This record gives sequence, C-alpha cells and structure tokens, in this order.
Amino acid sequence: MTLDTKKVVYQIYPKSFKDTTGSGVGDLRGIIEKLPYLAELGIDMVWLNPFYPSPQRDNGYDISDYTAINPDFGTMADFEELVAKGKELGIGFMLDMVLNHCSTEHEWFQKALAGDPVYQDYFIIRDEDEITDWQSKFGGSAWAPFGDTGKYYLHLFDVTQADLDWRNPRVREELFAVVNFWKEKGVEGFRFDVINLIGKEEVLVNCPINEGKPAYTDRPINHDYLQMLNAASFGQNPKLMTVGEMSATTIENCILYTNPDRHELDMAFNFHHLKVDYKDGQKWTIMDFDFPALRDLFHSWGEGMAAGGGWNALFWTCHDQPRALTRFVDTEHFRAQGATMLAASIHLSRGTPYIYQGEEIGMLDPDYDTMSDYVDIESLNNYQILLDQGKSPEEAFAIISTKSRDNARTPMQWDDTTHAGFTTGTPWLKAGKTYETINVKNEKNGPIFSFYQELIKLRKTLPLIADGDYKAAYTDSDQVYAFERTLGDQSLLVLNNFYGNEVTLDLSTTYQAGQVLISNYADTTLAETIILKPYQTIAIWGNKVD
Ligand code: GLC
Repeated sequence: MTLDTKKVVYQIYPKSFKDTTGSGVGDLRGIIEKLPYLAELGIDMVWLNPFYPSPQRDNGYDISDYTAINPDFGTMADFEELVAKGKELGIGFMLDMVLNHCSTEHEWFQKALAGDPVYQDYFIIRDEDEITDWQSKFGGSAWAPFGDTGKYYLHLFDVTQADLDWRNPRVREELFAVVNFWKEKGVEGFRFDVINLIGKEEVLVNCPINEGKPAYTDRPINHDYLQMLNAASFGQNPKLMTVGEMSATTIENCILYTNPDRHELDMAFNFHHLKVDYKDGQKWTIMDFDFPALRDLFHSWGEGMAAGGGWNALFWTCHDQPRALTRFVDTEHFRAQGATMLAASIHLSRGTPYIYQGEEIGMLDPDYDTMSDYVDIESLNNYQILLDQGKSPEEAFAIISTKSRDNARTPMQWDDTTHAGFTTGTPWLKAGKTYETINVKNEKNGPIFSFYQELIKLRKTLPLIADGDYKAAYTDSDQVYAFERTLGDQSLLVLNNFYGNEVTLDLSTTYQAGQVLISNYADTTLAETIILKPYQTIAIWGNKVD
C-alpha cells in the first residue's frame, strides 16, 4: 500500500446532502451538482455513507442488496456519472462497506429463514443454551429468535441487522466479490464499517464486562480476515485508500490494522477522544468534556501510532456523533474561532484528516424542540431506555438532544431558503434552527471556509504536515492541546486553546524565533511568552531552540 498522505477526505451523508427531486431525501445527482463546491474547498476524496437498497431501519447500514443503488438515491448510471465527473475534478470516491452484518431482508437471510442450510451457515445461529449475555449496541439482547426454529441469531446492532459468519469461507468469498464489484466501478477507496467486529470465535462465551464487547472485538482472527480481504480485493490496487471503523479498539490493534507491512488497511478510525464527555463511561449522560483526558488520548494515539508505524484517520464529527463544534466550543461567543481551532488541531496532526459535511461552514447541532423531530433508531431506543430507568421526559430529551446521531444528520445548509435549500419537498429530517445565517451562501467567503481551504493546501505543500513525526508538547497544560511535528531538520509546533479565555504559554525554550505558519487570529506575534486568545490556534514553523 502506498498511501498518499497529502489527501484530505470529505464525508457526505447522501440522505442529507442535496435533494434534486423534491422527495425530501438527498440523492446522487445532488452530489454531482455540488462537486464544484467540493473542488473549491480542495478535498481529494469523498466518503459516501451507504446508498444501497435497504429498508432503512439503520439509515442504510442495513443492506438488502450490496451491488445496486437504492432508487431513492438514483440509478447506477447516476453513480457512474458521479465517479466520472469526480475524476475530472480530481475527486475520488470512497464507498462504505458494511460487511459485519446485512439486513434481515437480504435474500441470504430470507433463504436461511426459509430453511436453506447453505444460507443458515451465513449467519451466527445458536441453540438457546448457547447464546451469550451480549448486549446489542442499540439496546437490549444481541440475540433474537430465528423464525420459529427455537434457535437464535446474533445481531450486534439492530434486530434487523444480522451478523454474518466470517468463519464460513463462502461468506468471505461473497463479501470480497462485493468489494471487487465496486472497485471495478472505478471507486478510489473503501471505508469498512465496524470492521474490527467481524472475527467471532467459534465458541461464543458470556462476558459481563462492557456489555460483552471484549468477547467479540479485535479478536486475533480479525487480522487474518483483513489480510484475506486485502489480498482478494483492494490490495491488488495499491492506490486505493482504505479505512476501518474500529469500535472500542486499542492502539496495539490499530497498529496491526494499519502498519503497511501487515497488508490490512491504510488507516483506522477510533472513537476514544469522543467519549471524554461520557459520565462514568456511559454515552447517554450529560457532562462537560474532560480536557486532560482528551489531550492525553490525542497524545497517546499520536505518539503510539507513529512509534508503531500505524496511521490514524483524524476526525471530529461523523454521522454517528453530535457535531463537535456544539460539543466542545462556546459557540454563542466563539463559533468561528472554535471551528477553526478544532480544524487545525487535526489537520496539522499526523494522519489523514476527514471533514464531515457542514464542518467547513461551522454548522451546529439542530437544537430541536421535541422528541418527535428525532428519527434515529439508536436515539429512539435509548429515549425509551432512559424513561424506563426513571428519567423524566425532560431529562431524557435533554440527553438525547445532546447525544443523538441525528445532530450530524440534519440537512446540509446551502442557503437561507426553506429547509436550508436542501429540498423543495419535506426533508426526511428537519433542518437545524440556524440555517438562515449559517449556510454555504453566507459562509463561503467567511473565515471558517477559507481556513479549511488553507489547511488543505498546507498539507499538500508541506511534507512536514503530511509526513512528519508526532510528539506531545506542553503535556501538563490544562487548557492547550499542543503537539510538535518534525521531519528532517524542520519542525512545527501547533498550539490549540480549547477554551474561551486567554492563556499564557512560555515559548522561551521552544519556538520563540519561529514563524507563524497559520493562525485563526490576525497579527499574531511571537515572544518569550505568548498569550493565546479564546480558542486560538497557532502553528509555529521552524527554528526550534534545542
Ligand atoms: C457503524 C456506522 C453506524 C451504524 C453501525 C451499524 O458504526 O457508522 O452508523 O449504525 O455501524 O452498521
């Protein structure tokens, strides 16, 4: 694998990006229409969330046909046109491969239910006395009755998402063929959904810790399967970019997943930095974020992955997280400063940066007023669980509105017209409250968009950013996340103030004589001591005093 470290990826949630038919659901032609916008931003690759036929119980992560297009999103001809037009503009496409499970409406599961033993071996089906205490990630037991057979099938996610049995060579062949089908369509990358969960043991065991996760996460056999997948599909074209979504993973495993010598994947997403506002490790709670924990996680992953020759996918927001800007920043006073600081803190780091649609214009969580505005299955299930636990409807709603995945899934805000210019119909999910001011039309000449453009350009022009080493700096600051990049005799110090108040830093032994490469405040001058303004980011280049 020869990963191009200069590339920046932009994530599009097709359902919410741009609707050209008035159906209320975004479509592939909408993405074609907006390609020039993406080219102007400067990104190289677009990761598209699933657009395959699906009953949409989990917004397309419940696939009923892996090699077709859901008519709501368009046709195969639209997809081919999208890929071709993207190529003309230097934009490749990375497709989402959901290979841990398929929809129970997929013909494999339907044939299995109808009694075909060949297809029953595609799934993880057990007798009642063999099932485990594992919990579904969307709430409740991870086992459901398999028709009226008296047996149970495993579903780590929704009851309509049946886990596939990777131990069966036939299943692997089918899934490798899926990847090759899309590879032949000219896509330039793949994002593998929850790919560190595919390797289940032959004998499944109870596991009271963390709802059973250790029993099925990052199992050694998972690495074997990734090597097989690599050899049978994308590995044959070293230019393809691959990223694995790793649930509850470790640095050690992510080094194995991504070190090029291992021939598994190019890079890995981990989510530890997005759990720093979980009270007692629980998602459905409300707590201010724990800055020292965030800082230490970035440092240990930055240094650990560099030391092991691994590679991080760097991101703040995705379709499974509330928007980082709302989550980490006092947006009432410092939206632009916070948005640009968050961007710099990952774009100047070691790894491949991902931008989630709308981050480049500083979009916020929608600030819905009622539970009926939410549609995500995880949010609805957990709202009920919170009520069952004795929370009042107001308390439960406050938690959902802080944590819901729908927060990132609201329509892309293009302009100030009804529904943010996303659709002329009724959107499948309501637009956020701020669209009249925060939209592409207003923001394109604003400070956030241009800062992103600049960061993307810097990665392309400075090998120090794309390829430099990563070292933690100012590790005891309780307000500034700082790191140093080095390559040959060059170095770059990146300082990120995570709060809305000023902070003083001593630069006398570090970069007093360097030059400011980029900052989100004008007129930054360096001195022995420097005062960082609210949410200020500064990258100081060269001349490190040793
Ligand atoms: C991943 C996806 C998420 C989905 C889940 C099950 O975490 O990102 O959206 O619900 O897998 O496929």
